[in-house]
Amino acid sequence: MITPVHEAARDTVDVGAAAGVYPVFVGPDLLEHLPVVLSTYAPTRRVAVISDDEVGPIHGASVATTLADSGHDVTVLTFPAGEASKTRTSWSILTDGMLEAGLGRDCVVVAVGGGVTTDLAGFVAATYLRGVPIVHVPTSTLAMIDASVGGKTGVDVHAGKNLVGAFHAPRAVVADTTVLATLERARRAEGLVEAVKHGAIRDEAHFGLVVERAESLIAAEPMACAEVVAASVRLKAEVVAQDEFEEGVRQILNFGHTIGHAIEAAADYRIGHGRAVACGMIAEARLGEGLGVTEAGTAACLIEALAPLTVRGEVDLDPTKARDFLGADKKSRDGQARYVLLRRIGEVARDDGWTHEIDDEAAHAALEAVVRGW
Ligand code: GLY
Repeated sequence: MITPVHEAARDTVDVGAAAGVYPVFVGPDLLEHLPVVLSTYAPTRRVAVISDDEVGPIHGASVATTLADSGHDVTVLTFPAGEASKTRTSWSILTDGMLEAGLGRDCVVVAVGGGVTTDLAGFVAATYLRGVPIVHVPTSTLAMIDASVGGKTGVDVHAGKNLVGAFHAPRAVVADTTVLATLERARRAEGLVEAVKHGAIRDEAHFGLVVERAESLIAAEPMACAEVVAASVRLKAEVVAQDEFEEGVRQILNFGHTIGHAIEAAADYRIGHGRAVACGMIAEARLGEGLGVTEAGTAACLIEALAPLTVRGEVDLDPTKARDFLGADKKSRDGQARYVLLRRIGEVARDDGWTHEIDDEAAHAALEAVVRGW
C-alpha cells in the first residue's frame, strides 16, 4: 500500500521479520507523517511516547503534540539521557509508568531518540503485557543506521552490555534526517562508525561512499544523510532478513563488537558506542591480519575511514577489566570469546561458521594496543 509517507520519504527499505515485513522510511521532514504511519502500521488510539530528558523536550514533545492533534491519547514517559540509564531499573520505572497510566494491550510504544532509547523502549515494548507494538523514531545517526533496525532490544547489566533483552521487531521505523541537525556534531560523526562497519562487512562501494560523503554527513546535510542512512539500512536489512535471531550470518553485524563492547563496559560507558566499536574494528582487523586471514592493509584502511568520525587517543580504562568482559560477549561458546574477522574491506572471512576463535593472549594484546590510541 502506498501512503503519503511513502511518497514523502526519499527511500523506503522493507525489512523481513517473522512477525511481518516492516518499512524503514528515510528522508527529510517525515515526522509530520507519524499519524499516518501509526494508523497504517499500528492502528490504536493509546500511545506511550518514550524518550530521554535531552531528546524529549525537543523531538519527544513535538511527536506527542503531532499525535495528540491527530486524536491519539498520548502518555509521555522520560528517563535520564545516557547509556547509564539502559538498565533493568529504568525498564521497571517505564513499565510501572505505563501500568499507572492504565495502558492495555491496545497501546503502541513510540520510541523517540538514539540507540539507548530504541533499545530500552524496545525492551519495554517486548515485555509489557507480554508484548505490545513499537514504532521507532530514531534521532541519531547511530539509531537510524543500526539500533532501530533489526528488532534487537535490551539493557546492560553488571556482567556486560546488552546481556538481557529480547528480539522484538518494530511495526515501522521513521528516520527523519532533518532531526540530525539538533544532534551534537561529535555524536553525529560517531554514529557513522556503524555505516563504515556495514561497508566493511558487506560492500566495499558503501565503505567508499561513507568516506567520500563524511564531511556532508557530519554537517548533517539531510539529503546526504538520507542517501547514506538508506543504503546502510538496506545492507543491514539484507542480513537481518536472512537470520533475524542471529543463529548464523547476522553475527557478522558484530564485527568490532566483541572488543568494542568489552571496552565500552570496562570504561563504565563513559565513552560512546561508536568510538568503542571503532577501536574494536581496528583491533579485530589487526588480529585478522596477524593470523593471515585478513588482507594486509585492511586495518590501515579502517583507520583512514574512521579517523574523521571519532577520537583516536588513549581510552581511559583498566585493560584487565576489559579482558574480563571479552568472555561475557553474546557470541561466546563455552566461555570462549568469538570474533568476526574480515577477509578484506567488503567481505567477511568464514571459519566453521561466521566467527573465529582466537588465542586469548593475542586478543588481549590487540585490545591493550588499541586502547593506547590508534
Ligand atoms: N547491531 C547488531 C545487530 O543488530 O545485529
